Amino acid sequence: MPVRTRVAVIGAGPAGLLLSHLLGRHGIESVVVDSRSRVEIETTIRAGILEQGTVEILSGSGASDRVLTAGHRHEGIELRFDGEGHRIDFTGSVGRAVWLYPQHEVLKDLIAARLTAGQDLRFGVTAERVEGAETDRPRVLARDAGGHTVEIEADVVVGADGSRSVVRETVTGAYGGSFREYPFAWFGILCEAPPSSEELIYSNSPDGFALISRRGPGVQRMYFQCDPGTDAEAYTEERLWEILRSRVPGVTLNEGPVFQRDVLRFRSFVAHEMRRGRVVLVGDAAHTVPPTGAKGMNLAVADVVVLTEALRALLLDGDESLFGAFSDTARQRVWKAQHFSWWMTSMLHRQPGASDFDHWRQLGELRSVVESAAGRAYLAEGYTGWPLAR
Ligand code: PHB
Repeated sequence: MPVRTRVAVIGAGPAGLLLSHLLGRHGIESVVVDSRSRVEIETTIRAGILEQGTVEILSGSGASDRVLTAGHRHEGIELRFDGEGHRIDFTGSVGRAVWLYPQHEVLKDLIAARLTAGQDLRFGVTAERVEGAETDRPRVLARDAGGHTVEIEADVVVGADGSRSVVRETVTGAYGGSFREYPFAWFGILCEAPPSSEELIYSNSPDGFALISRRGPGVQRMYFQCDPGTDAEAYTEERLWEILRSRVPGVTLNEGPVFQRDVLRFRSFVAHEMRRGRVVLVGDAAHTVPPTGAKGMNLAVADVVVLTEALRALLLDGDESLFGAFSDTARQRVWKAQHFSWWMTSMLHRQPGASDFDHWRQLGELRSVVESAAGRAYLAEGYTGWPLAR
């Protein structure tokens, strides 16, 4: 017997869980499935910066109170280059801020909210394909942990299943999307140490980029630009600290045991279409940004805000106009975020084979940002996030 619901959501990441939560507030029922276990979802370390609009949605909708109590408000960042730090004052320039609150904490809050509301949330259920996109009863065919087939029939199917989405091809067909690869990656570490800086430091150094971020009083997150083919295990801890120190000249890093290391790939992708018939893509299933602008999870939330309104109009009022425009509306912000992420990346990283000219031009660009109120405001506006369509 197929499971019947109004909205079938594939993927219990930030996009899928928040969509289900916001729909629930309009009385629209949904079923969320994810191939992973709850423990895996709640413990995988991902990004950490939430735009002000993301925080307002999470706290204002009752999805998370903890973001305000356990998260940390950051009113600026430091851009470092040529041996000096320059503060970008977010609140001073645009009256907005960001919050440092790790993605897996957002997920814990959203999962708890879904389960408390008695919603149908199924872990260990792997979607295999979506059928009937062009009908008004699309179906998800999935398999549970015991190998049994699960069929979910809905009014709308949403692919919120990340960058390896199984739904994407149903929506984009052979056209796919716009894609860009970068000739570098980030080496990320988590270490046990006190914070080295109150605010995040984005550093352009002659040897390449580094980011000094943080997680809590005793755990810090840091990254440095590396070759995409780097083997994360190939470095001694001593070597990792040597590299990090050389990338933030003038800053004293508090060092400590490194207990996690990973290499993050750098890519940009935007699906040409985010909707086909009654099947929709949101979040990483539809687009990927390089992490320099801290936009990934925030873009997923922005998609969901647009989609919630469209589904409310479609499913409660029978009005198809917002739903029909969903892809065009969502892609406008996606491309602004793509540009911002690309800009931050290109301004801060060392391109392999960069010439003397390229290096000095980059410092000129950084100076033109930090020494101008308009430049600082432009960066602050993009980083803290443009207003959400509501
Ligand atoms: C992080 O803390 O993981 C982080 C912060 C800012 C970024 C990317 C990652 O731009």
